[in-house]
Amino acid sequence: MTSGGDAPGMNAAIRAVVRTCVYYDREVFGIYNGYEGMIKGDIRKFNVRSVSKILGKGGTILKSSRSDAFRTEEGRATAHQALTEKGIDALIVIGGDGTFSGAHQFSKEFNFPVIGIPGTIDNDLPHTDYTIGFDTATNTVTECIDKIRDTASSHNRLFFVEVMGRDSGYIALKSCISTGAIAVMLPERKLSIEELIAILRKGFANQKTSSLVVVAEGNPNGGAMEVANLVKARYPEYDTKYTILGHLQRGGDPSCFDRVLASQLGVAAVEGLIDGKSDYMVGTTNNKITYTALAQCVTISNPIDEELLRISKILSI
Ligand code: F6P
Repeated sequence: MTSGGDAPGMNAAIRAVVRTCVYYDREVFGIYNGYEGMIKGDIRKFNVRSVSKILGKGGTILKSSRSDAFRTEEGRATAHQALTEKGIDALIVIGGDGTFSGAHQFSKEFNFPVIGIPGTIDNDLPHTDYTIGFDTATNTVTECIDKIRDTASSHNRLFFVEVMGRDSGYIALKSCISTGAIAVMLPERKLSIEELIAILRKGFANQKTSSLVVVAEGNPNGGAMEVANLVKARYPEYDTKYTILGHLQRGGDPSCFDRVLASQLGVAAVEGLIDGKSDYMVGTTNNKITYTALAQCVTISNPIDEELLRISKILSI
């Protein structure tokens, strides 16, 4: 099952799960539309060919949803019944922290074997080096900001570019470094408008003719439009523009990195279940497969990478 915001590479993970089940002679089903589909019994039997030619495709063939009903005891009981009726005795969920909270609750309540595969462009889950989709999304963002840079330079403009990340600044920070932006505004670390203006003024004093600021969606001072307006009000002489990249960041064919990561995690999820593991997330740490209790993955989010933040400041002078 895939759930929550889709991420490029989810299909590669689905394929890996299905093929590994077939390899080990297990029956495998696809649950459609996330927890909503689980509650409604939207579940179909898969075979090895059900996942042909999806490895390199964005989105999720299983579709996805954010389910309020699964947050209720009644919803979870109905979902449990739907699985039992099909003879399903283990569950693999691909998603982010919301998906994992539901999975952990479900596993505890019904003593049901569950493994979570981290799939979200946000890279906000702890205990894994990367989540599936983050690499592709940051490559997409880099390509888009490079294009904005071309026009910003031609017109000597100051651009604010908003990227996804309601609670997590990973996409913003990584793309700030990859595109040479002058500053980054993160949900985790408030940068005041005064501090931002000081950075911009220093840049212009250092002969910068155009500048780009990456703003995470969850920035406490507001998104790119709000920040651009605040700066414009104080410095009308700057030719200020903003762009919101939005959902295009979630689409597109997965990168090689995401395809391989999704394949590794899909195989490890099935092998973990066969080994009797339950209520775990499978991830990678220093490129090695690791299993971490889901309870430990849903209580904290991945802290911002201080070293990347330090590097971004050094390089943006
Ligand atoms: O969880 C991934 C994410 O893309 C966040 O970065 C973003 O805030 C959110 O999903 C948007 O969700 P939706 O597509 O439901 O608006």
